[in-house]
Amino acid sequence: MQEKDWIIEPIPNQEREIRVAARSRRILAAYLNRICWNEMRGVEALSIATRYFSRVPYASLNFARHNADEARHAAMFASRAVELGGMIVPVPGRADVLSLLPGFKNEEQGDVDALVHFMTRGYVEEYRGMLFFEAMSEALDYDNLTSRMFKRIAQDERMHVSYMRELLEPLAEDGYSEIIPALMTKYQQATTVSI
Ligand SMILES: [Fe+2]
Ligand SMILES: [Fe+2]
Repeated sequence: MQEKDWIIEPIPNQEREIRVAARSRRILAAYLNRICWNEMRGVEALSIATRYFSRVPYASLNFARHNADEARHAAMFASRAVELGGMIVPVPGRADVLSLLPGFKNEEQGDVDALVHFMTRGYVEEYRGMLFFEAMSEALDYDNLTSRMFKRIAQDERMHVSYMRELLEPLAEDGYSEIIPALMTKYQQATTVSI
């Protein structure tokens, strides 16, 4: 894969989404709740992935660490949403979580195909999350606290992007050189941010 293949575009409607989200504190609170829901979905998916890939320690350990980061993000978004007058969102359902786990089979443990699908999808989501949070941080010039929170979380998302790329690169060079770029294209067709 070439360097350009690792670059992910923001969601097509990012600018508009951010204009709307940054319009007022009330709308921002609702957005923070939605983002919190996404983060919670990530937490659930990563905890399943940590167990599912327990025989692939280099992946499983990273997923466990990543899981802790996403749980922290969810708590940060939730508490800021409440401070801004929002409400706590419902916890994601099982079907929502399973949609983040393409190729997972109930009984089987951690095959490489499932790992490639999960991580490629994760890479796209984390990359888009990073771009979205960075842009949110810039747009929120009237709310320093929330702006700084987005900036801090975007730095974590950057770390998630880079460890996923590190794990995907050897696979992209050996056996998955066509599959990974094709999956990246496929997962980029989604138009929502799901961090
Ligand atoms: Fe996150
Ligand atoms: Fe993340």
